[in-house]
Amino acid sequence: MPSKRPRCDQVPAWEKLQTQFDCSGEAFDLRQAFAADSERFTKFSIAAPHVFADLSKNRIDAATQALLLELAQQTGLEQARDAMFAGAAINSTEQRAVMHWLLRTPAAATPKAEFVASALQDVHSVLDAMLAYAEQVRGDAEITDVVNIGIGGSDLGPQMAVLALDSFVLPGKRFHFISNVDGHEMAALLPKLQAKNTLFLVASKTFTTAETMANARSAKAWFEQQGGTDVARHFAALTTNVAAAKDFGITTTFGFWDWVGGRYSMWSAIGLPLAIAIGAGSFREFLTGAHAMDEHFRTTPLAQNLPVQLGLLDVWYRNFHGFTSRSIAPYHSALRRLPAYLQQLEMESNGKQVDIHGQPLAYGTSPVLWGEPGTNGQHAYFQMLHQGTDVVPVEFVAVKKERHTLPGHHAALLANVLAQAQALMVGKTDAGGHRNFPGNRPSSFFVLEALTPATLGALIALQEHRVFVSGAIWGINSFDQWGVELGKVLAKDIEPRLQSGDVAGLDGSTAGLLARLRG
Ligand code: F6P
Repeated sequence: MPSKRPRCDQVPAWEKLQTQFDCSGEAFDLRQAFAADSERFTKFSIAAPHVFADLSKNRIDAATQALLLELAQQTGLEQARDAMFAGAAINSTEQRAVMHWLLRTPAAATPKAEFVASALQDVHSVLDAMLAYAEQVRGDAEITDVVNIGIGGSDLGPQMAVLALDSFVLPGKRFHFISNVDGHEMAALLPKLQAKNTLFLVASKTFTTAETMANARSAKAWFEQQGGTDVARHFAALTTNVAAAKDFGITTTFGFWDWVGGRYSMWSAIGLPLAIAIGAGSFREFLTGAHAMDEHFRTTPLAQNLPVQLGLLDVWYRNFHGFTSRSIAPYHSALRRLPAYLQQLEMESNGKQVDIHGQPLAYGTSPVLWGEPGTNGQHAYFQMLHQGTDVVPVEFVAVKKERHTLPGHHAALLANVLAQAQALMVGKTDAGGHRNFPGNRPSSFFVLEALTPATLGALIALQEHRVFVSGAIWGINSFDQWGVELGKVLAKDIEPRLQSGDVAGLDGSTAGLLARLRG
């Protein structure tokens, strides 16, 4: 049953927020706010597990925050959150529970619902088996290359995390991620591999995704051409559709469940490449860090609840300020795939135009999410962030302790991240003309002590929950993705036409382009 919670634009707080925006929100000036309140940094900072967040450089004050909390209460945010943690089928268009958080719940927990308790047992039996397998692969000196074949949620999370935790990765093993149906990816990799030294992980929740199936077929054909015979040793499938994997000829399988959304799946068997890379102990720490954030989200009063505050800020910016994008700037090169990962998380979850009942929305939803690691972004698009005509809230991630020993670099990196956040806010208004910086540009600033499995786990769980919060306030289903279907169907229709040249029934542009691309 879709939720009975009222829609955000139908509760009194929505109108009050509009009035607040009109009266003071639009003209709010961060510089004045800091000048007026020496405690602003303390008041608008939250120390969540593993993540310290300074929200003080955002266009909010106590009154706006109070109204946003009213909005959360009036739209039943806590009820929505509790329904997710109780295992209710909140993904109503697919009649599925949403329980990725259960994948990082300790085995000793005692969920109330029997369905959830039994799912927790399944989670831990697969986790134990998968981690034992990961350790076995780590100890197998003959396997030097692990190739993950998957796309979307079956690629972005493990790829992002293996890169992020590179200093924890076992020396002597290389990790490759093949996602695109574009054969250039696979064709470039295969010549670098030896069949006897390679483990292919075919990662697909559904085991039907066209790109992944094409790449899996090519990998298997190559393996056999190279004289490989032991598919059970050199291929494993990570999927909810174990039967399809077996039909494909893969007998080494690790399962998961339909209540894990693809973009929320790296805590499941989809995390196997990460587990092989960093080992069972570190993978468990990754889960523990995420669980600490789950508990923070589940139990902390809304005013001090970091995912809640971030999600409310997202609503304030998107629906009242009218900001259409958010930029993520991780100041750690190992986090270079974090923007791509967060794009799927935010935009596939909240890029929706109808509410949970299928009714059109009268307000905006998902912002466009984009970014690059600092300091690279500074020399590319920060110009627009500082002086462009659009205001783009920026989310900085800084890591206190570096993992290298090169002198000077880390201080320079940290100086830059601090300076960018400062420059966005203070601006420079005495220069005039081309040299003028308007300032008052909002940013949030996250600090991690170090980039470790636990802190990364917490950071990602934080992002998952903030997406949940804005999605719940907007009254949408953050857990389906019907918008990806049409292109898949049309591609199936077009593919044979590239052979036959048949353009009957196609629009003029598609027909013209098809003719150009043929043969
Ligand atoms: O096409 C979108 C999508 O369904 C994503 O939601 C998902 O992460 C990706 O494709 C891969 O799906 P699968 O894991 O089933 O191959």
